[in-house]
Amino acid sequence: MRLPILSAAFSLLRLATGLKIATALNWIEHTPQPYAIKNFYKGSSAATLSSGGVANLASDSSFDLAANAETQGLKQYAGHRNIRLIYVICEVPYRIVANKAAGIKTLSDLKGKRIGTMASTSAGVFVHNMLSSVGLKESDYTTVSGQVCMKAPCASNTFPQMLKNKQIDAFGIWETAVELGAQALGDNAIIFQNESIYREVYSLYSTTDKLNNPSKRKDIVAFVRALNQTLDIFNNKPDSVYQFVASAVNVDVPVLKAVWEDHKWTGTWKPELLDFLVEEDAYLAQTDRRQAIPRAELQKFLDTSIIEEL
Ligand SMILES: *[C@@H]1O[C@H](CO)[C@@H](O)[C@H](O)[C@H]1NC(C)=O
Ligand SMILES: *[C@@H]1O[C@H](CO)[C@@H](O)[C@H](O)[C@H]1NC(C)=O
Repeated sequence: MRLPILSAAFSLLRLATGLKIATALNWIEHTPQPYAIKNFYKGSSAATLSSGGVANLASDSSFDLAANAETQGLKQYAGHRNIRLIYVICEVPYRIVANKAAGIKTLSDLKGKRIGTMASTSAGVFVHNMLSSVGLKESDYTTVSGQVCMKAPCASNTFPQMLKNKQIDAFGIWETAVELGAQALGDNAIIFQNESIYREVYSLYSTTDKLNNPSKRKDIVAFVRALNQTLDIFNNKPDSVYQFVASAVNVDVPVLKAVWEDHKWTGTWKPELLDFLVEEDAYLAQTDRRQAIPRAELQKFLDTSIIEEL
């Protein structure tokens, strides 16, 4: 009689210890996670994705992992120094699409123009970095908020349609919105992109509490290993995943293919990421009216120990 009770208790325990992961479910960058869970993950029990991001790690200890751009990672780390960046899923040199008919031939021509983007996100940092690289201050242009469109037809409050309707002259955000904006303008579209000025570093995060818990850590390593196997396929056999990714985020396959090369499924990072984060954090500290995070603290934020364990 003891065995069934024990095994029932054991399965409850397994349920309670499954990996809980917060991530925005709408964007291309997140898709290696469901792919890894479906095809490769071999942890002690199920891994579940729920809508959210790195903010959930700070506010709800039932979350074990979260995926988000480096921008949200920095914003959370500023107040929660137990968060760790443990893996880079995807790096994306975002793009600005502008309307040549509004007299825009170079980035500097965006002076005085209306530029769509989303404040307090990686897209806002991107637009700021691109324009400051040609000497434009935030007072030199107007930012306009709007929504992302992933699939045509795009609603009137989304950037591609706002660009087409001439409510904005340009916009910069993650894909597939920029591609749809370029398609909406046709020959009048001009694209600006510069990886050395800005790329999104879409990362996986955990907390020191979770990483120090041996059974949790084992599952985290298993999940990252599954992600690593997934990135191999995303990099080397993209034809086999276009349909999966397109369905996961509800985009059209030809549009996905057009932006695939802008997504670098890197998996790890180089030492220069620290400089990149120091610079971005200095800007975020201004916009969020807080102290910048000391460089030595940002160094602690970058934790290579899980990658080393794979
Ligand atoms: C990208 O930006 C860097 C740094 O500002 C600059 O040196 C380089 O020429 C730019 N590349 C392109 C393709 O515009
Ligand atoms: C991750 O995957 C790549 C194949 O893309 C492989 O070469 C590498 O060894 C893997 N890394 C680890 C740490 O397993």
